[in-house]
Amino acid sequence: MKRILLIVSGGIAAYKALELVRLAAKAGYGVTAVLTEAGKQFVTPLSLQALTGAKVYQDLFSLTDESEMGHIELSRAADLVVVAPATANILAKMAGGLSNDLASTLLLATDKRVLVAPAMNVRMWEHAATQANIALLQNRGVLVVQPDEGPMACGEYGPGRLAEPPVILAAIEAALNDGPLKGKHAIVTSGPTHEPIDPVRYLANRSSGKQGHAIAAALAAQGARVTLISGPVNLPDPFGLTLVKVETAREMFEAVQAALPADIAVCAAAVADWHVEQATQKLKKDGSGKPPALNLSENPDILATISKPGPQRPRLVVGFAAETEKLEEHATAKRARKNCDWVVANNVGGTGIMGGDENEVLLITAKGTESWARMGKAALAQKLSTKIGEFFE
Ligand code: CTP
Repeated sequence: MKRILLIVSGGIAAYKALELVRLAAKAGYGVTAVLTEAGKQFVTPLSLQALTGAKVYQDLFSLTDESEMGHIELSRAADLVVVAPATANILAKMAGGLSNDLASTLLLATDKRVLVAPAMNVRMWEHAATQANIALLQNRGVLVVQPDEGPMACGEYGPGRLAEPPVILAAIEAALNDGPLKGKHAIVTSGPTHEPIDPVRYLANRSSGKQGHAIAAALAAQGARVTLISGPVNLPDPFGLTLVKVETAREMFEAVQAALPADIAVCAAAVADWHVEQATQKLKKDGSGKPPALNLSENPDILATISKPGPQRPRLVVGFAAETEKLEEHATAKRARKNCDWVVANNVGGTGIMGGDENEVLLITAKGTESWARMGKAALAQKLSTKIGEFFE
């Protein structure tokens, strides 16, 4: 059984640590909890003890603790040290190497990887000091689960909310490289592509990258080594994977070729079908009232190329089909035409799916078509990656 040392520091989000413990225990991890003085103001040692089924450590100088397990030993007995929630204060202590209580001493003494899930007021999170501390910690190899954006307990709005417990658990699983896809390499494409028209304009589409990024994170959480190749998106960099940022379809194609070989490829990107013969200078109105002609040429088809039989073909290639009509018919034809194994088909015709938070899809495989009820993109990513895990069992 893999063990997690969970440090709960102060902050209103500390109550979510209880849910994290519950989920981690359900996923088969052993959790030992450490509660800081400030953390105690928000959750009780008793509730953490009840959920972990083990002693909750609180004091650096407690003789009882020392007689059971010294702080050095405690810091090394786990496979991963997790700080959730991590306050601005504990991050500053970590960055500065302070050790004036049990939590900071354990973080200084440990020889294991450390994952932090920050939670604090938006201004505290955005403060240059906190950002510098986070950057420093990341450079030292500390793993950071980025906080969410949203309304905060203090009434302000912005980034700083603790990531949801399932997201933190997925990051833990990715950090421990633990799961059915351990040892497998997955390439995921995500987001739109931008095809420049001239130095200031481009052709694009409404893809947000939410679905592709969620799939990449979910595959990493299943233990896969993931290369995520993403067009321009406005999303935080997902955790625990290799991210390659590209702009055009041709760059995405090159990046996918460079990332091979792989066991799994999921092409979730909304790749532009054409690129424009790019003007070297900004296109100007010439006064005639006639629009300029855009000279379009076809882009390489990444999915069709990767699916071609050959030694480099991933064992499982999953494509997406964005359709606005005759969903099953068009997607089934696309699966055959592109020679991929599975197609995730979604109707993007005016239902708020493209760019939205939910998705409603058909999964088309050699065995037939499954219809999946409308669900959040993260949930869909989980479901798909679980299915991929089963495929490799
Ligand atoms: N795709 C790709 N490379 C391209 C175009 C599409 O890899 N140049 C992939 C997408 O990532 C997706 C699948 O092909 O997995 C289908 O994309 P879609 O836009 O639905 O289909 P198209 O190939 O563009 O076909 P059509 O425009 O006829 O619907």
